[in-house]
Amino acid sequence: MDSRTVLSFSRRLLWRRTLLVPLAAALAACSALGRSETKQAASPTQGAAASQRSEAPSSATQTTTQSSDSTPPAAATALPVTPACEDDDDPTPPQTAGPFYTPNTPLRTSLLESGFAGTRLLLSGQVLSTRCAPIAGALLDFWHTNDVGEYDNEGYTFRGHQFADDQGRFTLETIVPGIYPGRTRHIHVRVQAPNQPILTTQLYFPGESGNQGDGIFDPALLVELTDAAEGKQAQFTFVLDVP
Ligand SMILES: [Fe+2]
Repeated sequence: MDSRTVLSFSRRLLWRRTLLVPLAAALAACSALGRSETKQAASPTQGAAASQRSEAPSSATQTTTQSSDSTPPAAATALPVTPACEDDDDPTPPQTAGPFYTPNTPLRTSLLESGFAGTRLLLSGQVLSTRCAPIAGALLDFWHTNDVGEYDNEGYTFRGHQFADDQGRFTLETIVPGIYPGRTRHIHVRVQAPNQPILTTQLYFPGESGNQGDGIFDPALLVELTDAAEGKQAQFTFVLDVP
């Protein structure tokens, strides 16, 4: 089992252990700049509407990240098989999109622009089905604040979408988002398998003092965060509720 699989499996175990997080907490709202983010599950209707504002997945726009050939060492074949993940694995929980989503974002894997401020962040991961099958061409649409907690609601700064490669893998180059009043540090994302409903959710950062006081925060949505030579690296595996 490679490190990515370990992280993915551990995350899903963590989520199972937190199933009892009161739903009422997730219904709490946060506010910023006079607007609020309220809990709402992504619905097929909502997803369809958003889908019309997004580019449909196509082979021409898929990222070119390639999977590595991970032939197991000979010794590993003598051990009992450890499942990479279980059938009917739990899907990534939905969260509110909040009021700051802007459709028709640019197609790009890097949100860094000249003169940007903040700590570099390389977010990578995989999009899987509930049977742990990679979802090739999955759409991922990210948006977050700048390093001082402000959204660009006029343009597309720190907004962009991309498509997972043929192994469901994605990489996003951006910065660690800032914090704004009422919320802990987070990244918004919409993830969609081709011709399937959209998952709208948020990603969180471990070790943030604001996590526990944030009514929307869900530990199942914590990224694995490590230091990098230049900034931070984060990993997350999305599990979409598709077979
Ligand atoms: Fe937000």
